[in-house]
Amino acid sequence: MTDFFLPRRPRRNRKSEAVRSLVREHEVHVSDLIFPLFLTEGKNVKHEIKSMPGIYRLSEDLLLKEIEECLALGLTTFALFPHITDSLKDKYATESYNPNGIYLKTVKAIKKQFPQACIMTDVAMDPYSSDGHDGIVEQGEILNDETLEVLAKMAVAQAVAGADIIGPSDMMDGRVSYLREALDLAGFSHVSIMAYSAKYASAFYGPFRDALDSAPKAGDKKTYQMDPANSTEAMLEAELDFNEGADFLMVKPALAYLDIIRSLYNEFDLPIAAYNVSGEYAMIKAAAQNGWLDNDKAMQECLLSIKRAGAKIILTYFAKEFAVLKKQK
Ligand code: PBG
Repeated sequence: MTDFFLPRRPRRNRKSEAVRSLVREHEVHVSDLIFPLFLTEGKNVKHEIKSMPGIYRLSEDLLLKEIEECLALGLTTFALFPHITDSLKDKYATESYNPNGIYLKTVKAIKKQFPQACIMTDVAMDPYSSDGHDGIVEQGEILNDETLEVLAKMAVAQAVAGADIIGPSDMMDGRVSYLREALDLAGFSHVSIMAYSAKYASAFYGPFRDALDSAPKAGDKKTYQMDPANSTEAMLEAELDFNEGADFLMVKPALAYLDIIRSLYNEFDLPIAAYNVSGEYAMIKAAAQNGWLDNDKAMQECLLSIKRAGAKIILTYFAKEFAVLKKQK
């Protein structure tokens, strides 16, 4: 019984799940997701990261099992990060290109056992640096160009081990072109580069630094990571990476930077990736554990918002949970 004529009633398109699903514009697919994994030394080690409930540092044997489970769920791409014992860390991150170190050995083992898995490796000094910075530190200064040589050795060693995508995550200048050339000259023109184009100096990386024990020993990362107040600068960073030959442009973190994701999506004809970082994961988990939020619904809504903003690819610690949930539906 209606007492006035209303031609446009948007609620008609929400009247049932069938209609809602007809008009639904965006959907997160398991194939959009990259699952970051933390590797540690030893056998049968599964060490939960306190600030990231449900996420573990795994030794190679258990990490291989985890990948097997994920592949069965349709998750095919993994970003691998190493937890390195303090005694192996030094000023020049030499452990990062040691072919017998845990990281490269494990990349090789994964690719041998699961050639269909796509492995993204991290090219930055921080997990291996005694200073806890992403570059070489001299007199308190983080050096830009001097760090490149270390990164090139690392990237080529990772390509030799079987990396499919490398992720130069230090957010300094000239990374993509230098590493592209180093990879090509070494015969790895098929290895992709995911540029950390707009990586902000964010408070949301805290739990990740717990996971790797990689917090800076002194200072912060503000001379290389971007100021959260800036958006124009993200466009410049993305343009440089585009011109230097990046295959994907990434924004990091994701949720507090949806506007940046959208701007890059509008401007560049490359797939945009977003890193739903450790702190974003931790917030939902903490609230859910307190009964303050519904974990699954909050997770799905956040991932959807990142997709809707324009990211085709999402790096997220929720990847496996999300895949399990999708399977159940
Ligand atoms: C460092 C690196 C960081 C992350 C990925 N690579 C932290 C930092 O810049 O200090 C953070 C990822 C996350 O928080 O989930 N090269």
